[in-house]
Formats: sequence, C-alpha cells, structure tokens
Amino acid sequence: MALRQEVLKKLREVSPCFLSGESVAQHEGVSRAAVWKAVSSLRKAGYKISGSPRRGYRLVEPADLLTLHEVEPHLETKVMGRVGYHHFKELTSTNDRAKELAAAGCPEGTLVVAEAQTAGKGRLGRSWHSPLGSGLYFSLVLRPKFAPHLAPRITLLGGVAVCRAIRGLTGVEAGLKWPNDVLVRHRKVAGVLAEMEAEADAIHHLILGFGVNVNMESCDLPAPIKGTSLMLETGKRHSRAQVMARILLEVEELWGRLLLEGFTPIAEHWRQLSITLGRLVGVEREGGVVVGRARDIDQEGALLVMDQGGHSHRITHGEVLHVR
Ligand code: BTN
Repeated sequence: MALRQEVLKKLREVSPCFLSGESVAQHEGVSRAAVWKAVSSLRKAGYKISGSPRRGYRLVEPADLLTLHEVEPHLETKVMGRVGYHHFKELTSTNDRAKELAAAGCPEGTLVVAEAQTAGKGRLGRSWHSPLGSGLYFSLVLRPKFAPHLAPRITLLGGVAVCRAIRGLTGVEAGLKWPNDVLVRHRKVAGVLAEMEAEADAIHHLILGFGVNVNMESCDLPAPIKGTSLMLETGKRHSRAQVMARILLEVEELWGRLLLEGFTPIAEHWRQLSITLGRLVGVEREGGVVVGRARDIDQEGALLVMDQGGHSHRITHGEVLHVR
C-alpha cells in the first residue's frame, strides 16, 4: 500500500513526463516487479497509466478519482470515512455493498464509494443514473441507537448535509424538497437514499446513500427528470473529492448534534433550506394524492399538510409532486 501511494505521488510529480520504474525501485529499495505490481494496483483502482519499456510509466490524464489518497487531503472528519474507506471503480450500488459490510459488523462511519454504479437506486423504487467519473455515489454506515420510527430524522439530516456542503463550497443556492431532494432552480442536483435493517424496537444499521450530480453535462442527465449539476450551475468543474469530503464533514457535525441535542437543530436547518414549506403541494402517497399547503415537519420528519377543506395530513412516505 505504501509503495503504491509513493508511486502515485511520484507519477504526479513528474506528470506529464515518464517515471522510470528502475529509479523508483532503486530509491525505494524494492524490485522492479514490486513497482510493476504497485502500478497494476493503481490501474485496477481506475488510474490511467501508460507504460513504455524504455521510458517507464506515465499518468495519462489528471486523475479525478475518489481513492482515499485523493480525498484525504480534503477530509476533516474524525469518524466518517476514516474508520473504513472502500473505493471501487464500479459497483451495482454503493448502498448494497455498504449493507453487506454493515451486516458483517463494520463500524459506524464506514464509507463505500464508487466511480460508477450499474444499478444505482433512487427513492421509491426508482433508479439513479450513475455514469463514470462525473457524479458522486457514496454510502455511509450508521448505527443509530434510537427507535426505528425516528429513522426519518437521519434521512432529513442527509439532505441538510448535502445542501449545506453545496452552498458552502460553491455558493449555489441549493434547497430541499421534502424529504430530501436537493434542488437548484427546481432542478434536482442530488438525492439521498436511506435504507435500514431493524427490529421492532432497534435499528441494526442504517445506510445513508448520497448521489450528487457534480460535473455532468446536460446530455449526461436522464431525460424525464429535470436535473442539473454543480458544473451546469456554476460554469466550472468541481473536485468530486472536495465535494464528498465537505458532505462527510457536514454529516459528522449534524450527526453529533442529533445525538447530543436531538432533532430540533436539524429540523431548524431543514426548515431554513426548505423549498416545500409554505407552498401549495400535491403529495403522492399510498391511497392517493393529498393537495394542500405544506405547513411544517414534525419531530419524526413527517410533512404536515393542510388540505383545502382544512384537514391536516401527516405524510411519512411519498413524493411531493409539485411545489407552487
Ligand atoms: C433519490 O432518489 O433522490 C435518492 C438517490 C440516491 C442515490 C445514491 S447514489 C449512492 C447510493 N447508492 C445507491 O444505489 N443509491 C444511493
């Protein structure tokens, strides 16, 4: 591992020139085969490295990967992404991999991140478009010690964390559509999928999965959903490593507050970032559509809607169809 990081560091230093395998081997006191192995392992992780028998190795393109090596310089957390960091070039779904790790007993704060997903999952059984390299797809393992009916608090916390990270890093005015769709100018830029394993009165683990459109062009975004990306909103590319590290920091801070102070501070952030509250909404849920004014969220993260007949509805699951 140490040799691999050293090779990567040197490849960067000399880029776009070649790095001699022989000189690395001599300098590090290892065989040329060991250097070759380190290069192969970097290639497996997704780095594009060309090789020439005479000249050595060269980084083909500036790597914008999400390996720990790339993310660590930006990472300010103590737990999230620190206690376990699992990076993949491709996965079906980072949530699914995180679930497996959680079931095997990994600690809270374990992170699973992929450069691409082949079966990324969205809320309400939808899929999440996850093309290689332009978006963020990652999942965190949490082990809340509270009752399962309070889990939606964490889902909302996830949306707040993403919104705050986007605003803080890019200045883009991201807002929240209940429960945790992150929108910019009514276009979706990120989403959070929470999945938990629980018994009647205890949560074994909760997986919080984040999908963020970072450097997608319009043609990369799937047609029926009105989507956008941080690049489309700001006109420049953003470091995915930096965006992810900032989201992890926000999650860690909000998670700490949730455990110490309860839901009140998270709910207050959510209200301030909300584009749903105070609006006339249609909420699709089991049993039909509720149309009314979105009043507030309650202590369990449910949306409170007052219909036109003056009846109050408490929505725990569903989709806000329109916000006027
Ligand atoms: C939504 O529908 O808004 C939620 C989207 C969540 C997508 C992320 S991408 C990483 C993680 N793995 C998945 O399969 N889904 C979540």
